[in-house]
Amino acid sequence: MEILRELRLSRKSRVVVLTGAGVSAESGVPIFRGKGSMWENPKARELARRAGPPWNTRGTWEFYEWRRGLVSRCEPNAAHITLAEMEDFFDNFCLITQNVDGLHTRAGSRNVLELHGNMWKGRCPKDGEIVDLPKTPLEKIPPIHSCGEALRPHVVQFGEPLDPATLRAAVDVSRNADLFLVIGTSGVVSPARDLPLIALKEGAVVIEINRDPTVLTPYVTASIRGKAAENLPKLWKELKKKL
Ligand code: OAD
Repeated sequence: MEILRELRLSRKSRVVVLTGAGVSAESGVPIFRGKGSMWENPKARELARRAGPPWNTRGTWEFYEWRRGLVSRCEPNAAHITLAEMEDFFDNFCLITQNVDGLHTRAGSRNVLELHGNMWKGRCPKDGEIVDLPKTPLEKIPPIHSCGEALRPHVVQFGEPLDPATLRAAVDVSRNADLFLVIGTSGVVSPARDLPLIALKEGAVVIEINRDPTVLTPYVTASIRGKAAENLPKLWKELKKKL
């Protein structure tokens, strides 16, 4: 790849990665759009129909318990593991993810900004407290907070704003990135999709890894077409030669 010849990289380089559902696809977690999407499964469609505002309902938790059960049987793949390894090499490394499956932290990533929350946590709609819910199935659904209120999943739902501090941190690191990798996202959901564009505008080299072309493809510095779990380890091997 031409860009790899020109790219200057050192341990001091600021490296930012944005991941989407495609990074977990080879772990067996279905994506949201296109071939292999969760919505191809009739069970997902049926459960999602019963989920809805105010999001601390039994119907919502039935849907999330199904998804949590599915993810609990999945393991991080080579892409997750490579990202955890990359973090050790750079003084400034930030992983921004739209995924709520927790597989990045299970793979060992530490500096992770979870833009859309985490399915292994619940949130109290009354006082906002976030509670770890690491075990599935839950003893009771909906799970009840110590204040007596039913918890909702700590996951951003369509139309809801992102946590402002998490978004601010994501914008800040994107603005300052030297190298920005966009992996396995269709790039159709804002504000996540804006982050690689912000990085580009500020002069970063942006490399996309995706099975298919995306709305971001025409803008990025370079695209690698294929599976994340195969192509990210290969890219990292090349990048490491520069360090
Ligand atoms: P999408 O399902 O929209 O896109 C997944 C992307 O991954 C697509 O571009 C696929 O081509 C690509 N892909 C699939 N398998 C791949 C593989 N093995 N290797 C590399 N790429 C692969 O998922 P997101 O972009 O993450 O929001 O969707 C963004 C948000 O929309 C999600 O976070 C979710 C959803 O609504 C919330 O849950 C709040």
